[in-house]
Formats: sequence, C-alpha cells, structure tokens
Amino acid sequence: MNRIMYIDTNYGQFNRKNVAFKANRRTYEQDANDVSMGCYTGLFRSDINWRMLGSYILNHFKNKDKINMVMFAPSDGSEAYSTIISLIEAAGDKKNQVLKKFFPIKAYDYDREILRAAKSGLINLEQTDRMAMQMNCKDYQDYFAETDNVLYIVNEEISPASRNTTTMKAKRVLTDNVSFFQADMFLKVKELKDDDGNTILMCRNALGYFENDKIEKFIKDVSAKLKSGSLFIVGAHDSVLFDVDSCLKKYGFEKVMDKVYKKT
Ligand SMILES: C[S@@+](CC[C@H](N)C(=O)[O-])C[C@H]1O[C@@H](n2cnc3c(N)ncnc32)[C@H](O)[C@@H]1O
Repeated sequence: MNRIMYIDTNYGQFNRKNVAFKANRRTYEQDANDVSMGCYTGLFRSDINWRMLGSYILNHFKNKDKINMVMFAPSDGSEAYSTIISLIEAAGDKKNQVLKKFFPIKAYDYDREILRAAKSGLINLEQTDRMAMQMNCKDYQDYFAETDNVLYIVNEEISPASRNTTTMKAKRVLTDNVSFFQADMFLKVKELKDDDGNTILMCRNALGYFENDKIEKFIKDVSAKLKSGSLFIVGAHDSVLFDVDSCLKKYGFEKVMDKVYKKT
C-alpha cells in the first residue's frame, strides 16, 4: 500500500434535519419520531435502467449540438461515472462525438468530505458494484484500474477495513468528463441556465431527505429554469415520503421513462 488518503471532516452547517451525508453509507435520525434511515450511493444504482437511459438520452438529443449536463448531489462520483459509462456504451463507435457533445458533467455536492473523495478519482467498490458494472458495460477495465491506494472516508459507517471493498482508480475517460464543485443545490438551482432545451439535470436520491415544501419549491425552481425538451432525472428515494411524480407533473414535466422527466 503506497498511500493512505484521509478525507477531512467538514460538515458545514447541515445538521440532523437537513442531512449532510458524511459518507457513502451511514444511518441518521430522520425526524422527531426517531425514524432511522440509511444513506448510500453506488455505481449503477439499481433504481434506474442505465442502459435504457443511455439510449434514450442519445436519441432524445440527437438534433442538439451541445448538451449541458448538471448533477446535483453526486456524492462520491459513482453516479457521474455511471452516467458517463452509460452514454459511452450506448454510443458505440460514436464515442468521441458523444464525449464532446455531453461532457463534462458539472457536479455539485454540499458535503466537502465526500467531494474530496470524488475529486480523488478513487472509489471503493464492493462485489455488487462489480456485478453492476458487468451488467452495464462490456469491460469495466476500460473505466477503472487497480491501485495500491486506499480511500478512507472519515465517519464512513463501515470502514473499508471492515467491509469487503476494494479501492479502484477511475480512469481519465471518467475523471476528465466530470468536474466536482461544492454548492448547495437549493441555491445553485437558481443559477441554472438552459439555452435551448438542451439540459440534463440529475438530482437523485437527495431531495427525499428534505421536507415536502422544500422539495416542491425546488421542483418549482427547476421548472422555471428548464426549457421545453430538457430532462430532469430523480431517484427512487426521492419519492419515499413525497409524491414527486405528481409534483413534477404539476410543474410541467412529462414522465418519459422511470425516473426521467421531460419539460413540456
Ligand atoms: C444519498 S446521496 C445520493 C448520491 C447519488 N445522487 C445517488 O443517487 O446515489 C445524497 C447526496 O446529497 C448530497 N447533498 C445533501 N444536501 C445537499 C445540498 N443541499 N446540495 C447539494 N448536495 C447535497 C449529500 O452530500 C450526498 O452526497
């Protein structure tokens, strides 16, 4: 092992109610009733069909020259990597055109610690992540390389030492195509610029941790910014306590596939 990487703790002003996700996996108290819930991320999270998503996006934006890819709450980079891989795999021999047209993703997370993990280009993978990769790409070694480095994330619920993870290094085809920034998505949404209905906004499995009125206000803000044809992509966890589907329809979105909404 060459180097051990420690991620500094900096949780900012978030506290129990507006959750700061301190690690890939952790539990926290959700509300006054002490409902305990978990928080995690992972490659090819199974709440969306990534292969279908890749094909849908390529087809939907076939007449656009450049796409503005924005991701809120990317966590450790798993979701950005899943998105890039899905589009590359769907592109086949048009890979280079697709890379130019869609990337880089601009990814904004609130948590500095998890951002440090994302920016390191290192990622902790479990056996299930490898299985997900096998289902979603021809050869995962096109995207990830072995490394002697170990990624430690402070306050991660289960440390890599006690869990069956391997740290891998994302290759440049992934790291060159996403830039991570620190920002609060509830503020950042007000700066969204959509020139031509050519935006994909991914905000998955983060809204569901907030109060209903805050989610609705966010969706209203997204709706005000996105032009007709742009896509807004959510996650399964967002709908656990709130009817995201109805709210999106109320603010002018049409469901085009599971978790994917098009501004009408
Ligand atoms: C459960 S993870 C979801 C990660 C990934 N999107 C997925 O679906 O697997 C939630 C992420 O939301 C981020 N987050 C929470 N509040 C945020 C905010 N106000 N602005 C930006 N990111 C936020 C956390 O830091 C964390 O990385």
